[in-house]
Amino acid sequence: MTDTADSRTTPADITASVLASFEGCGDERLRELMQALARHLHAFATEVGLTQREWEEAVRVLTATGHITDERRQEFILWSDSLGLSMLVDALANPLPAGATESTVLGPFYVPGSPAREYGESMAAEAAGTPAWVHGRVTGVDGSPVAGAELDVWQNGDDQLYAVQRPEAPEDHLRGRYTTRDDGSYAFLAVRPVPYPIPYDGPVGAMLEATGRHPWRPAHIHMIVRAPGYKSVTTHIFDRESEYLDSDAVFAVKPSLLRDFIPHAADDPDTPAGVQGEWVSVENDIVLAPGED
Ligand code: BEZ
Ligand code: FE
Repeated sequence: MTDTADSRTTPADITASVLASFEGCGDERLRELMQALARHLHAFATEVGLTQREWEEAVRVLTATGHITDERRQEFILWSDSLGLSMLVDALANPLPAGATESTVLGPFYVPGSPAREYGESMAAEAAGTPAWVHGRVTGVDGSPVAGAELDVWQNGDDQLYAVQRPEAPEDHLRGRYTTRDDGSYAFLAVRPVPYPIPYDGPVGAMLEATGRHPWRPAHIHMIVRAPGYKSVTTHIFDRESEYLDSDAVFAVKPSLLRDFIPHAADDPDTPAGVQGEWVSVENDIVLAPGED
């Protein structure tokens, strides 16, 4: 064949060949996913004029991501979180009826199997900050109380760490499963959460540094609320006074999840049993959408 301008292979020809290679895929959804992935990947490379050196650097970053990942550290999810993909996938998958409590990221520090705890019980196995009385009601969107709902709760302490990040910490420190009473009410004793950085000693941290972003998350308490006949919701209570609410490293802040942590003096007559010194309280009602998981 003569080497004329007309017979040259163009970038668009390459993209078309890749798309065509998936035409025989018998799984319709897989075909759709792979073709769209190839189309958008090629469009990305074309739009930015991706250079050979940049592509090699990207391969190095992906390789480093694989190397740092193990059972305790999931750097691929951290990429998804720090690029807002986790929040986007959640928003696409969980359209909610009006009034239902919004969801947000699960994060890497959830450990299933927290101990079942009583109404009002503390989940701090050791001193971990200002005591926080967290209370509210779980209802359906029609306002009816949800009795027997489970609130699976976990949080960090004032050292910024989750217990799972500290091998020496008591296993059940700052986590617990609470059950709502007949009127849908619940309460537990937590500590006031503090902002903390997502793990930044790997490729995601390098990206944040190189792009002038910070790794911090605003102060929050995690919970998953489950009840038969309702969709589970994975959510946070955010401290309305926290730093970083407008620049969360993982884009997980939703205005409807901000709550007031109200200060109380040590001699407040409502001081919960076992609390000494100043404390805070936060009211957090949860509204569940009907359905199943
Ligand atoms: C967290 O809130 O625990 C978290 C979420 C995403 C990435 C890192 C931490
Ligand atoms: Fe967290």
